[in-house]
Amino acid sequence: MPDIDAELQKAVAKLNIGSYSRHVFLCTGPSCCAPEEGQAAWESLKSELKKAGLTEGQQACFRTKVGCLRICCHGPTMVVYPEGTWYHGMTADRIPLFVREHLLANQPREEWIFARNPLD
Ligand code: FES
Repeated sequence: MPDIDAELQKAVAKLNIGSYSRHVFLCTGPSCCAPEEGQAAWESLKSELKKAGLTEGQQACFRTKVGCLRICCHGPTMVVYPEGTWYHGMTADRIPLFVREHLLANQPREEWIFARNPLD
């Protein structure tokens, strides 16, 4: 019988869960954008977070690729927590600027935002 707690704690340790200050969810379609477009944005997000040093440390950001955020138009759709900032049209070319401005400089890109739902 598997040791459920040990397996879960191993995953938590591997992912550094407990050390993040933000969590970004990116929808890769298929309704808000073409899956290829969503996947390209996802690959860009992964590499830009790494390049910016945001995979660890005080400003570390966890990332999750999702199949739908229930907006289903004008994607790729993205939401950033805890501030609850919803972005539209987050194609791969926008990701470097998003990482620099929102995640590093704490200055959300206003013209790409379509909704807000802070959790704090
Ligand atoms: S498919 Fe992206 S929000 Fe629904």
